[in-house]
Amino acid sequence: MNQFYYKTLIIIFFILMSSYATLSAEDKGLIFLPKAKMRGVISLEEAISKRRSVRTFKPKELNVSQISQLLWSAQGVTNEKRRFRAAPSAGALFPIDIYIAKRDGIFHYERASHGLLATGSRDVRAELAVAALGQSFISEAPVSIIIAAVRNRVTSRYGERGNRYIDIEVGHVAENIHLQAVALGLASVPVGAFDDGAVTEVLALPSGVEPLYIIPVGYEKL
Ligand SMILES: Cc1cc2nc3c(=O)[nH]c(=O)nc-3n(C[C@H](O)[C@H](O)[C@H](O)COP(=O)(O)O)c2cc1C
Repeated sequence: MNQFYYKTLIIIFFILMSSYATLSAEDKGLIFLPKAKMRGVISLEEAISKRRSVRTFKPKELNVSQISQLLWSAQGVTNEKRRFRAAPSAGALFPIDIYIAKRDGIFHYERASHGLLATGSRDVRAELAVAALGQSFISEAPVSIIIAAVRNRVTSRYGERGNRYIDIEVGHVAENIHLQAVALGLASVPVGAFDDGAVTEVLALPSGVEPLYIIPVGYEKL
């Protein structure tokens, strides 16, 4: 009897797995983003000189092209053959995962398909602001980009030194986002002051995924 149940369970498992594998990306809930543009309207020098930490945002949503461009600048694939990304990574081990929090929920950036996968359907921006020691502008920005890391992708090869590499890498990713925001006529601010556990809980991050930076992005309110 037990063996019968066991076999039935295995068969059901394989039927479910094979039907999942045949689902299209849309069926799996993936939202495709428009292709990122490779040309902007201002020079890199202008973007560097204009970048400023901005903490006041208009209540105006970002469109999908702007979100696409920001996520591409963070972790988009820039070399299809080797799967290298927009920011450098020690040993090409790529410990960084990107999430965004916006009015309609929480999303994971799926870099391979340049898409978004919903991981939560609630607007958690106000809770995120509380988790970031009450930095209320986080709840006002239309989008917050969360740079997170999976440490053992790097420490399994480099040991303790890997932790240093991750902290450096986060800076590469963040600066790309800030400069891309300026190039899009948007404003941003890097937020490092937050309660790690509270942010992990608010975003329901999977085990092993550690939030390192929150970058609210939007239109500056002058
Ligand atoms: C690692 C790091 C953490 C930061 N954390 C915060 C933060 O939690 N909240 C905030 O408002 N600004 C934060 N900032 C932004 C700095 O306050 C800001 O960069 C600094 O005042 C210089 O201004 P600028 O970015 O306009 O050049 C952080 C910056 C860095 C590099």
